[in-house]
Amino acid sequence: MIWAANWKMNLAPKESLAFLQTINAKIDDSLQKQIIVFPQNYSLGLLENIFTHSPMQWGAQNIHPENDGAFTGENSVEQLVKMGAQWVLVGHSERRKFFQETNESCSVKIAFLQSKQIKPMYCVGENIAEREAGKTDLVLEEQLKVGLSKIDPQQSFSIAYEPVWAIGTGQVASPEQVEEAHLCIRRFLADNISKELAANTPILYGGSVKAKNCEDLAKVNHVDGFLIGGASLDIDEFCQIIEQTKN
Ligand code: PGA
Repeated sequence: MIWAANWKMNLAPKESLAFLQTINAKIDDSLQKQIIVFPQNYSLGLLENIFTHSPMQWGAQNIHPENDGAFTGENSVEQLVKMGAQWVLVGHSERRKFFQETNESCSVKIAFLQSKQIKPMYCVGENIAEREAGKTDLVLEEQLKVGLSKIDPQQSFSIAYEPVWAIGTGQVASPEQVEEAHLCIRRFLADNISKELAANTPILYGGSVKAKNCEDLAKVNHVDGFLIGGASLDIDEFCQIIEQTKN
């Protein structure tokens, strides 16, 4: 299992540090290896030391796909690499909705990240109108076709399936809905990139994952982990999710 914590625009640097110190104290090293934390950028300087000395993985919630230069307000991948980050989220539905990210712009970011040996976690998922119109598979396939069009199949990445209607709503997808979507993603990877890559690419589910629903979701075929928003901000609940789904 992978437990990825998407802290979004929450937790100040000192709160983030206290959170990670608790994880370090409470969770075995072997399980910490399976945790990926996406904090606020402001916190990264303070967290660099704890990340360097713990098995946890970490990354940024967004980057700009240029080496450096006059891009006010953007986040540099070179600097993330220097700090030792392994991951970056790409195409989260909030970035698609509020910051005009498209499948095309995601493909550029994914290629740029891979050129720097940073692993993209590419987020895909349908909105409620698309699901009700029976278009979930079509939407996922289009997001994957365009978003992964510049992928380097020699390098690893992961996919997070996050139905937009389940994010932050408390309305979790059913195990059947999750299995169908994850199977669609796995099939797309096998048919369009390679069977080996399809078998080795972790597919995470995200959307209102909580302690109360994580066990059922973890049992679903093709679920390799979770991308957790709200419940990752509560240290007890986050640890409980890890405890309940660690096997
Ligand atoms: P949520 O967020 O767990 O609060 O639904 C998930 C996400 O946005 O990645």
